[in-house]
Amino acid sequence: MDYLQIQGHTTLHGSIAVSGSKNAALPLIAMTLLSQTKVCLGNVPDVVDIKTLLKLLQNLGATCHFDDHRITIDTCCLTDTKANYDIVKTMRASILVLGPLLTRFGHCEVSLPGGCAIGQRPIDLHLKALEKMGATISIKSGYVVAEAANGLVGAAIIFDKITVTGTANIVMAAALARGTTTITNAAREPEVVQLCEILHQSGVIIEGIGSAYLTIHGTDRALLDIRSFDVIPDRIEAGTYLCAGAITNSTLTLTNIEPKHLETVIAKLEEMGFRCDIAQDHMTIHPAKTIKPITIITQEYPGFPTDMQAQFMALCTQAEGTSTIEERLFENRFMHVSELQRLGADIKLSGHSATITGPSKLSGTDVMATDLRASSALVLAALVAEGETDIHRIYHLDRGYEKLEKKLQALGVFIQRAKE
Ligand code: UD1
Repeated sequence: MDYLQIQGHTTLHGSIAVSGSKNAALPLIAMTLLSQTKVCLGNVPDVVDIKTLLKLLQNLGATCHFDDHRITIDTCCLTDTKANYDIVKTMRASILVLGPLLTRFGHCEVSLPGGCAIGQRPIDLHLKALEKMGATISIKSGYVVAEAANGLVGAAIIFDKITVTGTANIVMAAALARGTTTITNAAREPEVVQLCEILHQSGVIIEGIGSAYLTIHGTDRALLDIRSFDVIPDRIEAGTYLCAGAITNSTLTLTNIEPKHLETVIAKLEEMGFRCDIAQDHMTIHPAKTIKPITIITQEYPGFPTDMQAQFMALCTQAEGTSTIEERLFENRFMHVSELQRLGADIKLSGHSATITGPSKLSGTDVMATDLRASSALVLAALVAEGETDIHRIYHLDRGYEKLEKKLQALGVFIQRAKE
């Protein structure tokens, strides 16, 4: 197993190119199951989660090529509609194939994803919506077995909770359904917006894109003509590197970003005292005279992203005073707290809230990555810790951050990958 060695107390210099969005690419790859022709996606991040989903599609009989951030996928000759546990257990987002497979083939089996470090993460809302669209769903031996022999039919879906992959799944299912589907309380994340836009350009009329109320006019199982496109930049990777600039109080430029998707993150950084110069597709963060404490409440987009909560917690350890962070989306997303405490952070937990008092003098030691974003919080803390920090179980990081150590090395950080 690999681990990362990081020497702290660094100032960063230079610029970093942000990769394409993992969370946008995943549903877009699943969407290729709706295409009548080969689909070509550009600006795809070279991370493990993407390869996992490609492997799942290959197991179903698709042809996939991934080279230099470009993927070509041909799903014309699929031979199977069963997504096996072996793959689904390693990545929950595999559930994204459920809607497309069912709407195209009228039946499929997808393994239930199982447990997750950050909370229960059920898929009940996905299943309830598909049932409303005419599917018969049963759970057999750990698999969701879904049938809709005559295809799915449009329905009025009301999500009790806003769900990102749930919305993506139902939008894709609705794309080939018979008739019109409406989704009330739809997720408005930029990743969902891109999926809707590409489907719309490919012949599925979708109204309300970017709003919480979507109307999707299905094609009655006519496959789509999906042209090539580029995946949007990764707002979470960008936010993580902004926090790297902030925690080390450096001047850092990010390129290949969409600043609009980063508005709440940038607003919090400015509230903390960092100056941000923002252009169309790049920005620079400048040091703060004093790093001020903040209050954060995680929310669905356009609120503050839960996927940036851990990184801001690391940053708050260097603020002058007491910050509070309330996690509203996932019940168990504070796994990084005990690891940050091992580095010397002063953090108190009470239910869904954390109180962080700074500035803390952190000192390097061995820490354990617990999930994707928690891992990046440990990297950030290591950048300011005295001495060396060794971060173990970095396979979590590899799921979603492309060439993290190379990107940080280019900014002057001493960081290297080693074998346990
Ligand atoms: C997606 C993102 C993840 C991010 C999360 C919240 C991808 C691949 N992953 O995850 O990085 O942290 O959005 O922004 O895009 N819920 C239910 N029942 C369901 C579905 C969801 O109760 O059927 C609950 C979840 O447990 C959670 C909340 O709804 O408390 C939001 O989850 P959801 O938006 O579905 O997260 P994901 O799509 O899995």
